[in-house]
Order: sequence, then C-alpha cells, then structure tokens
Amino acid sequence: MKVIRSIAELRNALKEERAARPGLAVGFVPTMGYLHEGHASLLKAARQSCDTVVLSIFVNPLQFGPGEDYETYPRDEQRDLAVAEAEGADYAFLPSVAEMYPSPTKTKVTVGQVTERLCGASRPGHFDGVATVVTKLLNIVQPDRAFFGMKDAQQVAVIQQMTLDLNLPVEIVPCPTLREADGLARSSRNVYLSEEERKQAVVLYEALSLARSLAEADRQMTAEELKRHIEAKISSAPLARIDYAEVLAYPSLEPVGKLAEAGRVIVALAVKFGRTRLIDNMILE
Ligand code: PAF
Repeated sequence: MKVIRSIAELRNALKEERAARPGLAVGFVPTMGYLHEGHASLLKAARQSCDTVVLSIFVNPLQFGPGEDYETYPRDEQRDLAVAEAEGADYAFLPSVAEMYPSPTKTKVTVGQVTERLCGASRPGHFDGVATVVTKLLNIVQPDRAFFGMKDAQQVAVIQQMTLDLNLPVEIVPCPTLREADGLARSSRNVYLSEEERKQAVVLYEALSLARSLAEADRQMTAEELKRHIEAKISSAPLARIDYAEVLAYPSLEPVGKLAEAGRVIVALAVKFGRTRLIDNMILE
C-alpha cells in the first residue's frame, strides 16, 4: 500500500497505473479516519468490485460547525494505516488541511432540498462542507466507484443528488450499516461515550427496531404517530437527549403522511449522550 500525502503525487500514481492497465476500475473509500469495522466493510466492498482501491483519510474542517468536535475528533494514523493495509487498500491518501485548502476556499458546493431537514437543519453548513470536500476528492481520485456507509443516509442522498446534478462520472455505492453485537451502529464517535452512556446508547437501535415492527403491524399509521412512539422509546433512556427523530420519504427526505402511501421511508435519529451526538437510521421499504 502506498501512503501519499500530495494531490499531485496521487494523480501521477493513478495516471501511470491507468496507462499500464487499460480498463482499470478504481474504487474510492473517503473517510475521516479512526477506522472501524464499518470502514473495513467499505474497503472490502471496494476490493471486491474494483481493481485498485484508494482510501482517503482527511478530517475535513469545512464540515464541522463552531463548537463541534473538529479539534478533538479521534485520530490514529498508524492504526488506520494498518487497518487499510490489512483490508487491501492500494493507496492511502492523507492530505493535510493546507494541501486540500491552500487558500481560504471561495467556492462551495451546496445541494438543495435534501439538505433542508435532519442533520442539514441541526448542523447548518455541514453538508456544504461534505459536498465541497467530496467533489474535490472525486476530482482528485476520479474513481469509477465511490463507497459510502448508509449510517449517514442523508449524506448518501446528498452525494447521489450532487453526482446526478453535476454529471460526475462516478457510481455511488451505498453500503449497509455495521453494528455492534447489541445493535449500536459503529461510529468513530462511539469512543466518546462513558460506560453508562454506551449502555444506554443501544436505545437508538431499539427505537428503530420498534419503528419497524410498528410500521409492519399497522401500515395505516402516519409518520407523525410513528415518530411519537419512537420519541417515547428514546426518552426511556435517562441520559438520552433527542436532537431529532423523523420519519421521511427516502431519498427525497420530504415529509410523508400515512406509511401505506409513502413508499420507501427513512426513520432517522440523532440523539445526544452528554457531549456525544449519535446518528442512526433504518430504511423501511
Ligand atoms: O462520512 C465521512 O466520513 C465524511 O463525511 C466524508 C464523506 C469522508 C467527507 O469528509
């Protein structure tokens, strides 16, 4: 695995590889590091369907708001490189902030509508930061396929919309959420949780599972009614503070009425435990 920190060097390496292997399929897994099983599953999916796999590790300052955890976001480069190598990445791209943003950025990518609710509403500017850095990374790597985890389902919807709108020549591949044994979605931020918070954090998965069984039992139920059940379940965990619990159409993220008339919906949660904000979701077909 080659570890590369400069944009020019990565471009040259991929150019040479494409010239030497015509028809080469390049897979790309963009991450912010502190790799866990979820990232490993993205690398596995990329490895399975592509000839060359590029992983990027870049904690993108643009997608963190004031007072969020940019400075304290967990970082462990040596461990990440070992995981990436074990999962068969061919290139690990670790640019510095100066390499990605040599001067204050005057251009940003803004995706409308799908960014209006959920994390787009709770974290103003977050998706501009994501869309901008993902566009830059896609331009640098020029992959055939890029792999994203469905734990960030709104991010997937935003990137799919952006790819469509801007005619970006890449296939976006959504991959399933990986969970701990008790159901908690794997996330780099889980390390922030205290022992008691970690125990109670399972309530997110329990609420999603409850939502699924209630929706299956009563298709006449409205999204609003389902939302109230979910909120009550989450509130049964004393340390949980709900940021949002929503039931919306997916991937449009528009409000829905009766579930029976809604088609594909997402049950999306953001819940705070102390200073840690966890998100999770379930798609109901
Ligand atoms: O999902 C993430 O880790 C980040 O939002 C991404 C896609 C790497 C962009 O910084």
